[in-house]
Amino acid sequence: MHSAPMRTIHDDVEEVLLSADALADRVAQLGAQLSADYAGRDPVLVSVLKGSIVFLADLIRAMEIPLSVDLMEVSSYGSGTETSGQVRILKDLSASIEGREVIVVEDIIDTGLTLNYLLRYLWERNPASMRICCLLDKPARRLAEIEIDYTGFTIPDRFVIGYGLDYDERYRNLPYVGVLRPSVYSSPSEE
Ligand code: IMP
Repeated sequence: MHSAPMRTIHDDVEEVLLSADALADRVAQLGAQLSADYAGRDPVLVSVLKGSIVFLADLIRAMEIPLSVDLMEVSSYGSGTETSGQVRILKDLSASIEGREVIVVEDIIDTGLTLNYLLRYLWERNPASMRICCLLDKPARRLAEIEIDYTGFTIPDRFVIGYGLDYDERYRNLPYVGVLRPSVYSSPSEE
């Protein structure tokens, strides 16, 4: 009579770190602040696929000034969980940013190596200015010194998922930011 209970992505979450409401409130504040700071400046928001898409989608709808959006995709050389700092551009900007006011929109800054590379790459394209807007700052493991202009939340050194962030391409569709259950990481092959 009863079918098996549906397993959902929520079952793999150990703890909710930032609720959907907390995210919405903070993103609204960031959007209002950016709208005020960039009034009359027609900024271009440059975001990095894929983790930033949910944040970007909400952030631009919290902004009321004219703006444009461009997307890049990068991949770090070397596999595993550590970023090497060597970055390959998989998808480049679609339009020139020369002379433009650039806001780099990032989901999370961990070691900072990826963003460090990206910033150098973007500065070579001669923007008029460049600032960083990052939803989550995880300073514990920082290796590259990066000045973040707009930060959503500073979080502890835990691997988080949801609101665009993935583990093995899953969980991006969680509406909150959570911590994954350790049992999901520890596959039998690694034991
Ligand atoms: P970084 O070069 O170490 O700063 O790497 C940043 C990238 O690593 C982010 O854009 C994410 O794609 C990924 N990353 C770092 N920490 C986490 C996490 O806690 N959850 C999911 N992805 C993460």
